[in-house]
Amino acid sequence: MEGNVGIQDIVARRGIYYQAFGIYHEVGGFFDYGPVGVRIRRNIESAWRNIFVEQLGAVEIETTTIMPEQVFKASGHLSTFADPITKCLKCGTHYRADKLLEEYYEKKGESKKEEEIKKMDIGQLDGEIRKNGIKCEKCGGELSKVERFNLMFQTQIGPLTTDKGYLRPETAQGMFVDFKYLFRISGAKLPMAVAQVGKVYRNEISPRQQLVRLREFSQMETELFFDPEEMPGEVGEISVDAILGAKLNFEEAGKEEVRERSIGELLEAGKIPNKMLALLIYLEKRLVDTLGIPTELCRFRELEKEELPHYSKGNIDLEVKTSYGYIEIAGNAYRTDYDLSSHAKLSGTDLSVTSGSKKLVPHVAEASIGIDRTLFALLDSSLQTGDRDWAWLRLSSAAAPYQYAIFPLQKDEKLEAKAREIYKKLAARGLQAYYSSSGSIGKRYARADEIGVPSCMTIDYQTLEDGTVTVRNRDTMKQERVEEGKL
Ligand code: GAP
Repeated sequence: MEGNVGIQDIVARRGIYYQAFGIYHEVGGFFDYGPVGVRIRRNIESAWRNIFVEQLGAVEIETTTIMPEQVFKASGHLSTFADPITKCLKCGTHYRADKLLEEYYEKKGESKKEEEIKKMDIGQLDGEIRKNGIKCEKCGGELSKVERFNLMFQTQIGPLTTDKGYLRPETAQGMFVDFKYLFRISGAKLPMAVAQVGKVYRNEISPRQQLVRLREFSQMETELFFDPEEMPGEVGEISVDAILGAKLNFEEAGKEEVRERSIGELLEAGKIPNKMLALLIYLEKRLVDTLGIPTELCRFRELEKEELPHYSKGNIDLEVKTSYGYIEIAGNAYRTDYDLSSHAKLSGTDLSVTSGSKKLVPHVAEASIGIDRTLFALLDSSLQTGDRDWAWLRLSSAAAPYQYAIFPLQKDEKLEAKAREIYKKLAARGLQAYYSSSGSIGKRYARADEIGVPSCMTIDYQTLEDGTVTVRNRDTMKQERVEEGKL
């Protein structure tokens, strides 16, 4: 699928995000964010922080993005974090073999094959390419044998070539490596949640679909450490029993059917492996609700065994239906004690802790949310067309880049001074507002709608007389006069 031209048009004209290194040549998988994009990203981050840090009571940390080789030896990324690759023997173009096959079958109208391809090993993928006589899309050349390609970017730490380092492919490892120290300084009690936002890097074979498959992107991750034999009744401000009735659109592994199910029912049926992962999934649903991604576009998908990452004993992805089809915006995994035990073994450091009277290596439930894909899903799902002469975004006020636009009716010193004064007051109150005095009022409304600003206020001559301003609602386009003090 090509994606939504309407959204691409707004993104390009307003510079929400754009190809990086524009003055040189295009390097796939790298995007920069412009002023509007940065604001939306920050809003996604603060909605996440409010839920996962303040309400769940996680300790938020920042760890380094470059890490020594041992970290990824222990985590398993060095040996297993790889995608299947094939190369054109004539022109050298590289392809991710599974995606190549998925597209091949999609073009043939057999998208059901996608599920089968996800489960294939490299030998089976290779066989599938040969069987169907698939050739290079660019020059028709023969394709090489499918191999595994490790997705981590390698670097060198310091002047010695022997000191290998890697750019982290997930923020999680920093939280595992620091776990014992954090446990000690944060009350030495389980459950304990640790959260982190930051850049991660994956040398994707074929980056595509704008923000969907990037080589540098950002994650908001939460690792919830717990005793698997003693599930707590509450974590932070959240009671576990209180979430059991919450409903989700859920797709079971192997079934192509999305049904609304309660969290309690999914736990009982063993579809969500434990209450701690259920809690994170519940919070994730709260996050997408807060940001305003419509529920009917969201599904939680249980991964099949063959799709599970190497560290996981159960994964449920949050996917959103977009103009590119369903995209995974978050991965939720029951990582067990895999990471802590592996780091303990390789480093020779005991990572067990004593919580209450028990000594144990905690288990981990993880919620890993991609900021870039969330932003894309937000833009894509909020696009409105056809009801006015311009396309516009119905962004929630939590996600919108500005809550208010402030417009002096026309170029006039007095109106502009008053508009500036109001702008300053709103900014001092921490509201995000933007000011514009150029172009007709109609054009300025259209430009504000286009980036999803919920309210515009116009300062006119009546404002100077009675202190009221015209407030225009983005969704209804209705206007009303409001006293300045009541804004
Ligand atoms: N720590 C677990 C982990 O990293 P993941 O499913 O590999 O899990 C989590 O990644 C999220 O990161 C995804 O759900 C997605 O939102 C985002 N993500 C992964 N690869 C991406 C890529 N190449 N480009 C943009 N976002 C990506």
